[in-house]
Amino acid sequence: MAQVAFLLNGTPVHLSDVNPTQTLLDYLRDTAGLKGTKEGCNEGDCGACTVMVRDETGAKALNSCILFLPQLHGKAVRTVEGFSGPQDEPHPVQTAMIAHHGSQCGFCTPGFIVSMATAHLNGDTDHDTTLAGNLCRCTGYAPIIRAAQAAVAEPIPAWLSSPFTFAEISSGDTKGAESPHGEGVGGASSPPIFRPTNSDDLADWYLQNPQATLIAGATDVGLWVTKQLRQLSPVAFLNGITDLQHIEHQGGQFHVGAGVTIETLRKALAPHHPSFAELLRRYASTQVRNAATIGGNIANGSPIGDGPPPLIAMGCTLHLRRGDEMRSMPLEDFFLDYRKQDRRPSEFVAGLSIPDAAPALRCYKISKRFDQDISAVLGCFNLTIDEGTVTQARIAFGGMAGIPKRASAVEAALTGQPWREATITAALPAFAQDFQPLTDMRASAAYRLMTAQNLLTRYFHDLNGVPVNVLEVQP
Ligand SMILES: Cc1cc2nc3c(=O)[nH]c(=O)nc-3n(C[C@H](O)[C@H](O)[C@H](O)COP(=O)(O)OP(=O)(O)OC[C@H]3O[C@@H](n4cnc5c(N)ncnc54)[C@H](O)[C@@H]3O)c2cc1C
Ligand code: FES
Ligand code: FES
Repeated sequence: MAQVAFLLNGTPVHLSDVNPTQTLLDYLRDTAGLKGTKEGCNEGDCGACTVMVRDETGAKALNSCILFLPQLHGKAVRTVEGFSGPQDEPHPVQTAMIAHHGSQCGFCTPGFIVSMATAHLNGDTDHDTTLAGNLCRCTGYAPIIRAAQAAVAEPIPAWLSSPFTFAEISSGDTKGAESPHGEGVGGASSPPIFRPTNSDDLADWYLQNPQATLIAGATDVGLWVTKQLRQLSPVAFLNGITDLQHIEHQGGQFHVGAGVTIETLRKALAPHHPSFAELLRRYASTQVRNAATIGGNIANGSPIGDGPPPLIAMGCTLHLRRGDEMRSMPLEDFFLDYRKQDRRPSEFVAGLSIPDAAPALRCYKISKRFDQDISAVLGCFNLTIDEGTVTQARIAFGGMAGIPKRASAVEAALTGQPWREATITAALPAFAQDFQPLTDMRASAAYRLMTAQNLLTRYFHDLNGVPVNVLEVQP
């Protein structure tokens, strides 16, 4: 049986000898001869390589440059070549792009078409959010947005429905199984692929293979391959583990599996934690959020990851598993030092529990660009104020230390004090006790410290009902 089976523009592809870290983009351009999908940055930033991937959970736009072939098993891939009809009829978004002059040099256009057609299929009309991960350097966004708006009224083309069930694709039962795009992309010595479908199997295998690399969404690991040219072996792909992809609401908590994507989390928590959800809207791009998991975001231990600070501010509990052994800890205790986490060999992130209420939570992401940028500073504040007095304070920052970290001295300076501006002013010097930030390409140490202090002032005004969001205060 083929090791990896998927549909490519409606045609079954079965690959029997797959290099586990070959990217879909390389396969499309070098093996399948589908060169419409472009390589721009090769690191998930520009969207030129966007493809649509469908499975039981729906249709998603993904960056093929950081998508490994085994992640596609059982799924249906559509490249830009696959959106026109059987008689070469253009897709409605293609017609609209022509009518609205949405393309000049055309290099970015295939990626835009795929993102727009995927949103069209999903009935998603938030075009700014859809296209934040597609970079165009010459046309300008106004004609492209006009094209996306014009296409909304057009029906979904009939040819976009798949004749196969997804179970058939992954079991290799589809007829005409010979791939027209070539077998074997790795060579006879390609390492075996471990692709568990449940977390028990992962736990057993990881005990036997403690040196293995776990790959969830590959939005970090993909760059180890495309930019650092690392050879990874053995690897386990986690995206088939369905029991890690659930969100359950029970006992005042959301129990979130490590394999839940950032986009799924954003949508699920938006009604309960709007500020957190708005932060996640500015996390990378639609394509990256569709792949990246909350487990990967926590496990990589980045000091500038957008997941940990709000989760720490809410008081989340992290769940880890090693073999049959489970343990839990407050999320902030997981981060020990720069890129050093409290995770033992063969232990993986199983999930986390998020309180379902934190009405005073506010998250402020400061980055050089509004969309699709990494945080220079991320401040998350969650205070409890009873009858005008601060009774509890949880404040966590990213970008201010080698780890995502609570502002303990600031919390202490606020707790028990009256909720007024003088209290805020008096607490500001405590930031220097909590943080000695670095200067790097994103911001200087002085900028970071002053910004963190200013964010506390912003929080004070925000909770008092003053508009503080740049989108709200603009005329
Ligand atoms: C273009 C681009 C923009 C980005 N922008 C942002 C941003 O705005 N904000 C932000 O926070 N991040 C951003 N990132 C970083 C990235 O999206 C996140 O760190 C992501 O959440 C990682 O999740 P993943 O599922 O892709 O992890 P992977 O890349 O698959 O894995 C990351 C690490 O976690 C480990 N791992 C994965 N799952 C588990 C598990 N269950 N247990 C133990 N270890 C595990 C892997 O072995 C690896 O070490 C961006 C990345 C790209 C490419
Ligand atoms: S080539 Fe830029 S996102 Fe893939
Ligand atoms: S049309 Fe040239 S980059 Fe977009």
